[in-house]
Amino acid sequence: MERREVGSNVSRRRFLRGLGAAGVVAAVPALAACGDDATEPVGQDTGPAGGGGSPAGGGGGEELAVGIMVPLSGTYASLGRDMINGFQLYLDEHGGQLAGRPVRIVEGETEANPEIGLRVARRFIEEERLPVVTGIVSSAVALGVRDLFDERQVPLIVSNAGANDVTRAQRSPVIFRTSFSNWQPAFSVGQWAAENLDVDTWFIIAPDYAAGHEDAAAFREAFADAGKEIVAEAFPPFGTTEDYQPFLSQIRQSEAGGVFAFFSGGEAISFVQQFRDFGLKDQLTLIGPGFLTDEGVLPAQGDAALGIRTSLHWTPLLDIPKNQEFTQAYEEAFGMQATVFSVQSYDAAQLIDLGLADYDGDLNEGAAVAEALAGVGELDSPRGPFRLDPDTHNPIQPFYLREVQEVEGAEGGLANAVIEELGEVRDPGA
Ligand code: PHB
Repeated sequence: MERREVGSNVSRRRFLRGLGAAGVVAAVPALAACGDDATEPVGQDTGPAGGGGSPAGGGGGEELAVGIMVPLSGTYASLGRDMINGFQLYLDEHGGQLAGRPVRIVEGETEANPEIGLRVARRFIEEERLPVVTGIVSSAVALGVRDLFDERQVPLIVSNAGANDVTRAQRSPVIFRTSFSNWQPAFSVGQWAAENLDVDTWFIIAPDYAAGHEDAAAFREAFADAGKEIVAEAFPPFGTTEDYQPFLSQIRQSEAGGVFAFFSGGEAISFVQQFRDFGLKDQLTLIGPGFLTDEGVLPAQGDAALGIRTSLHWTPLLDIPKNQEFTQAYEEAFGMQATVFSVQSYDAAQLIDLGLADYDGDLNEGAAVAEALAGVGELDSPRGPFRLDPDTHNPIQPFYLREVQEVEGAEGGLANAVIEELGEVRDPGA
């Protein structure tokens, strides 16, 4: 492919608007299936953002303080930044208000550490008495704070962490998720691989924490009846592994024909580059959940990512007007590409906006606020319209089998093109 430099947001916008090439699909119809510690302020208070523009809500202009728990350092730091940006973009598009209330965002740095996450959550709930909290990248953090939100009846909108149980056995009337369960992308790519790839022996690799193990389990489940063999697995330490060579040696020795890998953020960059540098890229098929090659890591991965196939509920190439508006506005606002993490957080803001539109009760009545949030039907997301399962509060949404291809005008010349619509993927629930 002929590569060209994309020098400005304007040309990028043209690229996004003008995509008519392979990998662009329309919205699909439903088918089957911180440094925080007790001595430091938790949050950076960034609001209220001011301005009118939002339809009047039931709150009569009372300030709404929203806590956002994210990593701002470590492997997942860029994901946290993307989530703050996505939430902010929705606010900016709505005059700084949600449901007619000026919003004050309170940021809390959690790293990917459950103990720090719990301290931030306690502070948000007990000291700051924030009526609603969102964010959370890591499954370990989500599992660590789940009981506190449930016991205190404070609404939590998880905008990334996929820990299955948060919307299965440990689901709560006050907990919602605008992202995915770990099962959804891992099972869907596993099922696709079992049915479509002529590779019979697989190696699983994922970081050694809750999300890595849940992704591995979902992939195994997809293969259980397919007559394929998982020959070996490896779980490198999370957040500290920089050199994947010992694991890449294990992969080579296993003589597997394919590799399923769940990595995200900085680890996705290192793993994908080292997989290529170690000489495995031309020999083995590499697949995984879409975080492996998301837009936040793809430019750094470069050609090492070419051809990797993944499953996810979004790509910037989805030919949906809402997606085009979103990706353009995001680039204008922040000078960088939108990611799935910014989409999920944008939708958390939308859930609050719609859910509280007619709410005129006490914002600290968490059960009542949660009931109002539960009443929201469809969200008009950049991923296409979707809804939360009324029982579990996990998204019911289509997934896409994507492949990293050379796409003219994309940042770094690469993009996640859709090669197959996998249809609606609904978590099996408890
Ligand atoms: C998780 O820990 O649930 C997690 C983290 C990063 C991702 C996806 C899931 O990209």
